[in-house]
This record gives sequence, structure tokens and C-alpha cells, in this order.
Amino acid sequence: MLRYFTAGESHGPCLTMIIDGVPAGFPVDPGKINHDLWRRQQGYGRGGRMLIERDEVQIRSGVRWGETLGSPVSFGIENRDWKNWTKKMSAAPEDRDEKIAVTKPRPGHADLNGVLKYDRSDIRDILERASARDTVSRTAVGSFSKQILSPFGIRVMGYIRSIGNITSNFDGLSYDEAYARAEESPVRTADSAAEEKMIGLIEECKKEGNTLGGIFEIIALGLPPGLGTHTQWDRKLDGRLAQALMSIQAIKGVEIGLGFEMARRRGSQVHDEIFFDPAKMVSEGTPRIVPTGFYRGSNNSGGTEGGMSNGAPLVVRVAMKPISTLMSPLQSVDLRSKQQTDASVERSDVCAAPAAAVVGESVVAFELANAFLEKFGGDSLREIRRNYESYLEQIKNF
Ligand SMILES: Cc1cc2nc3c(=O)[nH]c(=O)nc-3n(C[C@H](O)[C@H](O)[C@H](O)COP(=O)(O)O)c2cc1C
Repeated sequence: MLRYFTAGESHGPCLTMIIDGVPAGFPVDPGKINHDLWRRQQGYGRGGRMLIERDEVQIRSGVRWGETLGSPVSFGIENRDWKNWTKKMSAAPEDRDEKIAVTKPRPGHADLNGVLKYDRSDIRDILERASARDTVSRTAVGSFSKQILSPFGIRVMGYIRSIGNITSNFDGLSYDEAYARAEESPVRTADSAAEEKMIGLIEECKKEGNTLGGIFEIIALGLPPGLGTHTQWDRKLDGRLAQALMSIQAIKGVEIGLGFEMARRRGSQVHDEIFFDPAKMVSEGTPRIVPTGFYRGSNNSGGTEGGMSNGAPLVVRVAMKPISTLMSPLQSVDLRSKQQTDASVERSDVCAAPAAAVVGESVVAFELANAFLEKFGGDSLREIRRNYESYLEQIKNF
């Protein structure tokens, strides 16, 4: 089983990640992880913090001469902003300073629930860990997971479908085309007309001290049928993906394939009919070809049925709420005086949905890598490759 932990406060010295259960022999390129960390920092509407940080992963264990050893892999990522916070985030008791306490909880954040639950008088004790700075760690772990999937031709891509009430039109584009265009877009979308409107909307919200959310889509290509299982609730692939995505800060909805739209249609307009032709491939858009001969006329299910991948592209859409910190603050109550007041204001993004798409990509990559190793697991890349090849052979001759 692949599992990971993250640790670190937003303005603490560094972020720490430990990934356990990684087999030996997988090539690791820290440059690719750094590239994903850079992608997470992009996007029109990000705040001042992104100008300070240049996130860079340090591999601290589990990798030697560019290959995994089978031992726990750990990463460190420095917070460059730490130098401005050494006293305010110090571990030493003599640095305590009640005057700098944050006491006006922001609606939509962990602030109020956190101080009540953990019995803290300074909201900073909560917001530092609740902060989406932790998505740096999740991006690094997910980017590493992509390197577990890539020897098997599995790719994960994320892009924006909508920001606020502006929706992109992707009609006629393949997943690869949509992704390639989105990589060039400041709002990570393939529709240039929508892009312009999204930027205009972000500017408008920035001027009024307001914020925005959005919907992003994650696609995974090259999945074989049979990742996840129908046999136990907590091992179903769709459930695992939804849990992982919902745990990203500010994510409030996840749908797979047609998702909520399925509920409005009749069965005959939803389910992907099954056909057989030995010349057909079940998995499109991947260098690996899995010719079982079974194929579908549509992919409304979004690549999973019965808690298992079905060989079609995985399609997941994810809804992010607007950023909770508003420069025109919402109403709150001061924790000390209990007087009505404006919520506190931290340096903040206006819209982080394009960045969240990169985080979503990573989170999905980890879940897929975990399900892949569960199915084809072994202690080394060579052993896993053998297991994978023999499974492909088995389903080919089904
Ligand atoms: C990539 C990313 C960047 C974010 N940046 C900010 C930010 O700058 N300011 C802010 O108030 N919230 C930001 N958020 C959202 C908060 O972290 C989130 O609203 C908060 O943790 C509470 O959300 P929850 O109730 O879903 O946990 C960001 C979220 C993500 C995914």
C-alpha cells in the first residue's frame, strides 16, 4: 500500500512529506516535480505569496542515483517566506507575543472551528496548517506518483472548465489538445474567448475586494480496466478519488463522467453500451494498447463502473468555492471582545482555481498509483512490469 503524510505550517521553516510503500527501481526526476510545483504557482488571480516562493523539492531519502530504493521516500520544500516569520512562528516559548494574535475569524476558513476545537486563543495556530500552502506538498507527492505511473503509459492532465459563471467550450478538441492549450493559458483553459472573459471577471472581483472559485476537470489516459474493486466500500476507485479530491482546501463537489447530469437523464441516455470487435482498443490516448476487443459507444461513466476502472479515460470534474479571505472583509466577531467586526485579512489570492487544477491532477495521480500498485504490486519496477504484462496478456486472451 502506498501512503503519505505531509507536515508543515504555511509560514514555518519548511514542508515535509513522507511517502511509504514505494517499490524499488522507479526512475525519479526532481526536475519534473519542480515543474509541477511551478505550474501550481501559476494562474491569473494569484496573490503576493507566489512572488516570494520558488518552490523546489529536496529529496531527503529513499532515492539513490536517480532510482527509488524501496525505502520510505521523503521530501523537504523550504518556505522562503520563513525569514520574515522567524519570531512570529518560532518554536521557542520566549518568542510568544500576544499582541500579534489573530482574533477575527474569517468566514469560510477553519479559523473559528479550529480555535474552539483546539482551545487556541490565536487563530494563527489554526490557519497556518489549514492553509492551502499544504497543497505544495500534495503536488510534490502527486508529481512523484506520476513518475510511478509513467513507465506504464498512464498520464494525468488537469484544466479549467469554468471560473465564476464563465464556462469554456471545448467542443471538437481531444483531451490532449485541450490540455496543450490550457498549459499556455493564464487561467489554464483551452477556450481563448472564455479565457478573456475569465481574466476580466477576476480583475472585476479584485477591484471590489471579492473572490472567485471555479470548476476544473481531471483526465487520466492509459488506465487498464480493473484498478480498484467492487468488493469493499473503502477500496472503490471512484470513492477513493472523491475523498482525495474533496480533501483539497476549498473543494466542495466532485463528479465522475456525466455526474449530476446522469440524475436528470433516462438510463438509455446514460449507460455506455458494450460492443465487441477484436480490432478495437479499450484504452485510447496511450502508448500502451490493451486490445480486449470489448469497447463502448460512449464514456458517460467517466472511466469507472462498479468501483473499478473500465479502460476508458477517467473524467472527473471538481468544484472549488471562492477564496475565503476577502479584501472587502465579511462580517465576523472578535474572539476576545465578542464585538461585531470585519473578518481579518491575510495576503490572499482572488482566484486559485487554475492552481487547484494542478493540485487535483496530483491528488488523482497518487490515488491511481496506489490502485495500480495494489493490483500489480511487487517490490521492484521489474516485478510490477512483469505482473502488468501478464495481466494484459490475460485480458487480451479472455
Ligand atoms: C491552490 C489553492 C490556493 C488557495 N489560496 C487561498 C488564499 O490565498 N486565501 C484564502 O483565503 N484561501 C485560499 N484557498 C482556500 C482555502 O484554503 C480554503 O477556503 C480553506 O482551507 C477552507 O476550505 P475548506 O472548508 O474546504 O477546508 C486556496 C485553496 C487552494 C486549493
